[in-house]
Amino acid sequence: MSAARAANLRQTGVERRGIPPLSTPPETAAFRLALLQWYDRNKRSLPWRDAPDLYRVWLSEIMLQQTRVSQVIPYYEKFVSIFPSLEALAAADLQAVLMVWEGLGYYARARNLHKAAREVVAAGKRPQSCADLRQLPGIGPYTARAIASIVMGEPQAAVDGNVRRVLARLCLAETTSASAFQDAADKLLDRVRPGDYNQAIMDLGAQVCTPRKPDCARCPVQPYCLAFASGTPEAWPIRIQKPAVPHFDIAVGILRDERGRVFIQRRPAKAMLGGLWELPGGKREPGESMEDACHRELREELNIPVSVGRLIGKVNHAYTHFRITLWAFECRILKGTPVSAQGLDTAWVLPEALHDYPFPRANRRILDLMVKTSNATG
Ligand code: ADE
Repeated sequence: MSAARAANLRQTGVERRGIPPLSTPPETAAFRLALLQWYDRNKRSLPWRDAPDLYRVWLSEIMLQQTRVSQVIPYYEKFVSIFPSLEALAAADLQAVLMVWEGLGYYARARNLHKAAREVVAAGKRPQSCADLRQLPGIGPYTARAIASIVMGEPQAAVDGNVRRVLARLCLAETTSASAFQDAADKLLDRVRPGDYNQAIMDLGAQVCTPRKPDCARCPVQPYCLAFASGTPEAWPIRIQKPAVPHFDIAVGILRDERGRVFIQRRPAKAMLGGLWELPGGKREPGESMEDACHRELREELNIPVSVGRLIGKVNHAYTHFRITLWAFECRILKGTPVSAQGLDTAWVLPEALHDYPFPRANRRILDLMVKTSNATG
């Protein structure tokens, strides 16, 4: 592809309609061949690729949503060793599943996967197609297409973030429209090896066509790439400015009984982080000190007055749409016993048993700090 042709395409606005020059059959066929030959030589060795059955591929695709391959691998390996089949997962209780998922985040993925496993096992029939997969909880269009292509050989193009970036560069897409990318992906898909094709383009995005410094010299499809021809491949995809991520300060109280047990409560099943346990507390309101917020929250949530003592620790954590700082205070109950005003499950747990309960990451870090400091102070 010459720079002149790229400039020309840009001028005529061809890429604005999401139509790559790759729409002509000889070029499309050569593109697919180059990509698949590269994949056959360079594909990443990933544990779910060894024996790609429905359960393993499904689990990997769910874990890989919003999460890097390197972070997923140890979780995946632990998960399949504890729940080696769909039947084993369906038979497990949700708390055991959340325990293994702890730290991976986006816990709705684990809840939905568990629910879907139970549905499939109860129905006595595995999903046979992309359309069947779409009926299951937690399986959206991308995930259904990825699983159906890899496991069932169904010609479905799966478009994730890596694929979008590769396509945007190949076509100099001036759009962010999901359907324009899906159309382009559908046209380029290799219908003979759809699963390998999808994984090839994902691997290319992860290893070669990276966001900041694409390694165009190593790229098997460089001859077809308009962004390479433009001289500034990293300028694609076009980026929309994201709004600033809000930050919240959250005060939590550590209540201990005479046996040293710690008070915890379980988040409602349908809420964010649903089914995980946490320390009681909540957001600071404008103008409030962290100590006052802790005092107020425990009174509202548990109907008890407390004296707020030492700050045990402070932990930062980033979620997708907001960030938090969790401030944990040692508290003493002045009167009565804590009862959840929201009707949540509650428990008093010995520090050494806290590892039997799944917690969100920031809470776990606070509890680890608490155990460490109480060991250090005797
Ligand atoms: N990201 C999501 N699914 C993937 C897969 N099957 N191969 C590589 N990267 C992926």
